[in-house]
Amino acid sequence: MSHALSRSRRNRPASRRTLSALLLVLLTLLASTALAHGVKPEKTGILLVAFGSSMPQAQASFENIDAKVRAAHPDVPVQWAFTSHIIRNKLAKEGKNLLSPAQALADMAAQGFTRVAVQSLHTIPGEEYTDLQRTVAAFRSFPDGIAHIELGAPLMLSTADLERTADVLLANVPKERGKDEAVILMGHGTPHPGNVYYIAMQELMRSRDPLVFVGTVEGTPTLDQVRAELKSRKIKKVWLMPFMSVAGDHARNDMAGSEPDSWINILKGDGLQCVPVLKGTAEFDDVVAIWLDHLNEALQRLDADGK
Ligand code: CO
Repeated sequence: MSHALSRSRRNRPASRRTLSALLLVLLTLLASTALAHGVKPEKTGILLVAFGSSMPQAQASFENIDAKVRAAHPDVPVQWAFTSHIIRNKLAKEGKNLLSPAQALADMAAQGFTRVAVQSLHTIPGEEYTDLQRTVAAFRSFPDGIAHIELGAPLMLSTADLERTADVLLANVPKERGKDEAVILMGHGTPHPGNVYYIAMQELMRSRDPLVFVGTVEGTPTLDQVRAELKSRKIKKVWLMPFMSVAGDHARNDMAGSEPDSWINILKGDGLQCVPVLKGTAEFDDVVAIWLDHLNEALQRLDADGK
């Protein structure tokens, strides 16, 4: 007992020395970090990333989001990038040079941005979003990239997002719609596993409003599945709404276009009366509010990261 005590007394000065050395190393590290930050002052920015649209009418959606983001974050510079290379190439031929997310982030790094919140304006976590995740991760690891970079979720990522999206979509169905009239939400759809979000949305609608259907252009549920539902319920009139951020090519041509294979013409062929609503979801403020909340969460993660 006494032997152990004397040994611990003897060891005390040595452990104090170790502690002082550790503290010195820690302080030096902290000082050099502070110096590095002093050389490059913190600069925060927002990068909004949409799929893009070749149609000028789609601008209404982008302008609405842009205005809402700037109003919510008046002191933070806002920049844009577009994930669709097809759209970027198409617009480049018209002399409009849109940036890809990687190009925009490289520009922002060169402009001295040290903290960037990248906000996905996609609807589901599909191919465009997963590619964006990879781009953001790459920039996070570049030695001369952006020190702090966070990615905001698309419209629907969590179950809570899905529930909230279902509620706001229903709230934006035109009031003129009668009780026995159906609504078809036209989603994009994708072979990517993220397509399950459209199926989940159809399921959520079933309990909220059984006459609201989700159909997709390139995935499931298909238009034929929706047509079978309409037939079995003896529906006579349908409202067609895009479940896409912009009312662009898909809404104006595939949904409401004059070609015989547009949804509106196929449904008219089934004897249905059709009313197209040419508004992208990003034109509805309560939908934009979901993206804005996801941006706030990304900005909060930046703050937590910076401390
Ligand atoms: Co498309």
